[in-house]
Amino acid sequence: MSVHQAGKRVSVPDLRRMKAVGKVVMLTAYTKPMAQLLDPHCDVLLVGDSLGMVVYGMDSTLGVSLDTMIAHTQAVMRGSSHAMVMLDMPFGSYQECKEQAYRNCARALAESGCQALKLEGGAELVETVAFLAARGIPVMPHIGLMPQRVNEMGGFRAQGREADAAEKWIAIARQFESAGAFGLLIEGTVEPVARAVTEAVSVIVIGIGASPACDGQVLVTEDVIGMFNDFQPRFAKRYADVGAEVTKAAAAYAADVRSGAFPALEHCFGVKR
Ligand code: KIV
Repeated sequence: MSVHQAGKRVSVPDLRRMKAVGKVVMLTAYTKPMAQLLDPHCDVLLVGDSLGMVVYGMDSTLGVSLDTMIAHTQAVMRGSSHAMVMLDMPFGSYQECKEQAYRNCARALAESGCQALKLEGGAELVETVAFLAARGIPVMPHIGLMPQRVNEMGGFRAQGREADAAEKWIAIARQFESAGAFGLLIEGTVEPVARAVTEAVSVIVIGIGASPACDGQVLVTEDVIGMFNDFQPRFAKRYADVGAEVTKAAAAYAADVRSGAFPALEHCFGVKR
């Protein structure tokens, strides 16, 4: 069920209301054509820094710059008119201090035209979130598995297996809520912990590899449409096999070009048909 006004983009107040009303649908988008396809079906399009790995083939998200995030978010804005667009602040653009975070977040909002920002962090980020929220910047902290901490974690591993994990993440989630975060995103966290966090706060909690109890779900679109034949995360569900279709189309095109079947005269200019 949607709570937003027809003809307008989904807003922060719309999302706040959805905790009580229905599930929030969120997918990643990095380009205008993909945004156009996803926009009618989603409440939020996330321009995730996962684009470093998905689009640019990096080993982690750490090498993504703010300029790159802004350029892709501008493209997603051009391809959407319904969903909220959220920009993922990249590594190094907000962790130094709250003033640095404000400068870069203000630039990201102003130059990309997006409506909200996502920042990865735990207790150390609470003061920054309060500083940003007090100055009118809508922020969604990303907790649990934080891909920007891949070196510290030694890989992408599910979080929250310690005995006191629920207590610890509930405390952090409540601090973010009090600091003015309009929602939270929880990634790669054992189900009971993600459920407990969702139930403990009044703001929306979006899950990925988390729990069906979360107030919404997000996935990387390329996992949903089956773009990668060699890798499928356990927590993602594949709804299409676009990778196989692309392979089939490229093979058929190559065969046609090599045999001379393409182009036919119908694809040429100045020929009477
Ligand atoms: O960068 C990203 O796409 C993300 C989602 C996976 C939540 O942070």
